[in-house]
Amino acid sequence: FHNHFIESVQPLIELIDSLRLIGIDKDMDLPSIAVVGDQSSGKSSVLEALSGVALPRGSGIVTRCPLELKLRKLKKGPWSGAISYSGHKEKFNDPLKVDNLVREAQNKLAGNAVGISDELISLEILSPDVCDLTLIDLPGITRVPVHGQPDDIADQIKNLILKYVAKSETIILVVVPCNVDIATTEALRMAQDVDPEGYRTLAILTKPDLIDRGAEIDVLNIVQGKVIPLSKGYIIVRCRGQSDINNKIPLSKAMEMEMKFFRNHRYFNSLLNDGKASTQFLANNLTKELVDHIKKSLPYLTEQIQTGLVNVQRELKNYDQGPPLEVEKMGPFLSEIIMEFSDQINELSRTGHSKDRN
Ligand code: GDP
Ligand code: NA
Ligand code: MG
Repeated sequence: FHNHFIESVQPLIELIDSLRLIGIDKDMDLPSIAVVGDQSSGKSSVLEALSGVALPRGSGIVTRCPLELKLRKLKKGPWSGAISYSGHKEKFNDPLKVDNLVREAQNKLAGNAVGISDELISLEILSPDVCDLTLIDLPGITRVPVHGQPDDIADQIKNLILKYVAKSETIILVVVPCNVDIATTEALRMAQDVDPEGYRTLAILTKPDLIDRGAEIDVLNIVQGKVIPLSKGYIIVRCRGQSDINNKIPLSKAMEMEMKFFRNHRYFNSLLNDGKASTQFLANNLTKELVDHIKKSLPYLTEQIQTGLVNVQRELKNYDQGPPLEVEKMGPFLSEIIMEFSDQINELSRTGHSKDRN
């Protein structure tokens, strides 16, 4: 992160933290960032680079449940993680455990094979080295079922993705490899369906190291928005490839290699100055999006809090004298309280939850 950037958003990030601390995220949907794209387009790799957390990934269907990554920046202190899903919760202190714990969770929720599940796996990471973001990894879009998958797997996955990207608080990262035709990308079409103006859609181009010779200019034109213009535009990133993983290249080293890759690239080096290349720039950009969203939500939040306060004060007024002392008023007072109580019991047995008294 650039220092002046951190300084300008730090007060807002701290505000978000203190809002979370008082549990505001139960009343208001704080924004999250979801990745959509074809299978093996690089979604998990992008999230891995953003979070510094090694996630399960590879070829074929690896991400089989929605995975929520809640990254919480600590001022200091050791790394700690907690995974939770369908009533199960486990805390751990070793980042290397993430991969296995997520695979285990997926096997429990979606079976050991190639099935998927709508059930959310939530992974909370506390560390001084992460940015304050909530990211959601989703199964990749497929067309043809593989052996053992139901015939309608493609629709199942699309519906699951829609559930997340349709929410107006979700920032959509459309992940497209540089070596496929972006114009025919299903993920981009899905994003455009739910966000036609592109207010919350950002496109990420992956695998720039795998572009065919001669196709670099075409990719450059795409990143510069000359082919399919998007209001939030494009960012190109280079993540760890399979050989980097086999060679156990750590994430921090991979980031250095990424910067070097772009700096030395004959066609893409100018994109660094334009702020359109590297995962570091992507992280900056996303934090800014998040802060903008919070800023926009604050007036609404204030309004909600004020309405709640007025209601509680009105209710309090009814009781501020306590029970009446005059014998003739005691009966009506008691019966009013009993009626209200019985209303609530009725509501509870009818609907299974108590009536909101505001
Ligand atoms: P997902 O299915 O969309 O989550 O894709 P993954 O993140 O699992 O990536 C699929 C494969 O592409 C993995 O083997 C990654 O190592 C590889 N990969 C991802 N990004 C890049 C990249 O920028 N360059 C190269 N060479 N390989 C990449
Ligand atoms: Na994959
Ligand atoms: Mg994945």
